[in-house]
Amino acid sequence: TYVIAEPCVDLLDKACIEECPVDCIYEGGRMMYIHPDECVDCGACEPVCPVEAIYYEDDVPEQWGAYQKANAEFFDELGSPGGASKVGKVAKDAGPALTLPPQSH
Ligand code: F3S
Ligand code: F3S
Repeated sequence: TYVIAEPCVDLLDKACIEECPVDCIYEGGRMMYIHPDECVDCGACEPVCPVEAIYYEDDVPEQWGAYQKANAEFFDELGSPGGASKVGKVAKDAGPALTLPPQSH
């Protein structure tokens, strides 16, 4: 799977969601989260993020390693909805975005 990391927090540029063929990039309160089971690893989202927030799971920079778990935990209660557009914005976060101070961009 691909993982969204810290540069997305408080920015949510959303260029990525236009590229995803399976609509598996979900909107949380402060960032977007990729569904680890729904992502088909096409990689289309990664180059379009203007702040390089998206990484293949094996390439997540070490200081942002917690975001891999966060992208999965975000879906603990949501399960696998099979499409982000029908779910819309979910007013919750997971992982570092729960406690990170406001980010300016
Ligand atoms: Fe976030 Fe980048 Fe997408 S800032 S919403 S991961 S384009
Ligand atoms: Fe979608 Fe990016 Fe995965 S475009 S399928 S979330 S690699």
